[in-house]
Amino acid sequence: MDKILIEGGRPLQGKVRISGAKNAALPILAATLLCGGVHRLRNLPRLRDIRTTKTLLYHLGATFEEGEPLCIHTDDLDSFEAPYDLVKTMRASVLVLGPLVARFKEARVSLPGGCAIGARPINLHLTGLERLGVKIELRHGYVEATAPRLAGSRIHLDIPTVTGTENLMMAAVLAEGRTVIENAAREPEVVDLATCLTGMGANIDGAGSPVITVEGVRELRPMDHTIMPDRIETATYLVAAGITRGDVTLGPCSPEHVEAVMRKLEEAGMQFTLTDDSIRAVGGEVIHEVNVKTMPYPGFPTDMQAQIMAMMALAEGQSIITEGIFENRFMHVSELRRLGADIHIEGNTAIVRGRPKLQGAPVMATDLRASASLILAGLAADGVTEVSRVYHLDRGYEAIETKLSALGAKIERAKE
Ligand code: EPU
Repeated sequence: MDKILIEGGRPLQGKVRISGAKNAALPILAATLLCGGVHRLRNLPRLRDIRTTKTLLYHLGATFEEGEPLCIHTDDLDSFEAPYDLVKTMRASVLVLGPLVARFKEARVSLPGGCAIGARPINLHLTGLERLGVKIELRHGYVEATAPRLAGSRIHLDIPTVTGTENLMMAAVLAEGRTVIENAAREPEVVDLATCLTGMGANIDGAGSPVITVEGVRELRPMDHTIMPDRIETATYLVAAGITRGDVTLGPCSPEHVEAVMRKLEEAGMQFTLTDDSIRAVGGEVIHEVNVKTMPYPGFPTDMQAQIMAMMALAEGQSIITEGIFENRFMHVSELRRLGADIHIEGNTAIVRGRPKLQGAPVMATDLRASASLILAGLAADGVTEVSRVYHLDRGYEAIETKLSALGAKIERAKE
C-alpha cells in the first residue's frame, strides 16, 4: 500500500489544472444505462471511484473504448444487479438503481452499509422510487426493485439528498407523465447530470433550484457530454494556497461553485482574482480564525470541512466548525491532533484553537476528505508528515502529489 511523504513549510506557487468532478462523473456514468448505443464522455477524472463504476458497468454488460472521449457501449446489457462486492467499496454504486429500473423495469442493488462518516441510509431514494410506482423489497441485503410501469408523481424529500435527487431524476426521465421533486438537492453536480440528461432528450426543468420538474419521454439517445470541473478539488487547492501562504492559479474551474468557500477564506485573510474559468488565490501573512457550518449547496460544503479545519489549526484565534450534514465526520481530528493541532469536539461542533506551528508526524485517514486535510496540514507543518492509507485520496484527487510537486511542494509517494 502507498503512503505520501511531505516535507512542509514551502509556499505553493504556480498553476494547477483542475480535473473533472468525481461526484458529477459518477451519476453521469450511471446514466449511460438509461438507453442503448454509444455514449461519449469527456473530462472524466482518473480516479479509483471512476474505475470502480466502470467495473460495475462492465459487470452489467457495458463495454468501453478508452480515449478522449471515453466511448461506452450499452446496447447489450445482460445483468440488472449491483453486487455487494462493488457496492461495499463505493456507496455511489446505488446510483444505478434509478436508471436500471427506468430502462429494464427491474434492478437488484446491494444495500450499502454504514460508512466512516455516518450511517448514510438510502430510505429517501427508496420511498421516492415507490412514489413513481416501483415495488421495493429488501431481501438478503439487497434492494429488489420491480416496476411494470413507472408513472410520474410528486415527491417531497425530507432532506435534500444529492444522490437521492440524482437517482430519482434518472428514474423520472423515462416515467409516464410529470414528476415534481420538491426540496431537491441544488448541488452543481445535480445540474451537470440534468444538462447531460437533457442532451439525451430528457425534459427537465428547475435543476439547481429546490423544485425539479421532469416530463417523462418515451425514448432517450446516447449522451455526448463533458464533465464539469471538480469544485471540491478546486476548493482544496484554494486552501493549499492559503495554508502555505502561497500564490496559486487554478483552472479550468467555476468560481461561482466555490463562492461559499472563497467567502470564508477571504475572512481568513486570503485574496482572490477571478476570471470566468480560473481563480488566482493568494494566501495572507496571517490566517484569521473563521466560524464555519456545513450545509447543503449553496452553503459551505461538508466535503471541505476537514480541509478548512486543517487551516484553522494554524489560525491566530479560535474557530468553531459545525458539521451540519453527517453525524460522524470528525475522524481527521485525532490525526490533526497528532500534528499538534488543538481541537476539542462537542457533539457535531469542533472548537479549534489556532497554533503558530504544526509538527510533521505519521498519520492516517479513514476517508477521502480527511486524507486531504492531513495532506494540507502536512504542507504547512515543520518536518516530515507521512500520510498512510493513500487509497482514500486516490478515490477523489487525481494525481495529487504530481500537482502539488509542480506547485513547489516537497511531496512524494512511497511504498509502505
Ligand atoms: N440521508 C438520509 N436518507 C437518504 C439519503 C440521505 O437520511 O435516503 C441523509 C444522509 O445520511 C446525510 C444527508 O442526508 O446525513 C445528506 O446526504 P446525501 O444523500 O446528500 O449524501 P450522498 O448523496 O450520499 C453526496 C456526495 C458526498 C457528499 C454529500 C453531501 C456523491 C457521490 N457523494 O453523498 O461526497 O459529502 O453528497 O454533499 O455525490 C465525497 O465526495 O467525499 C463525498 C462523501
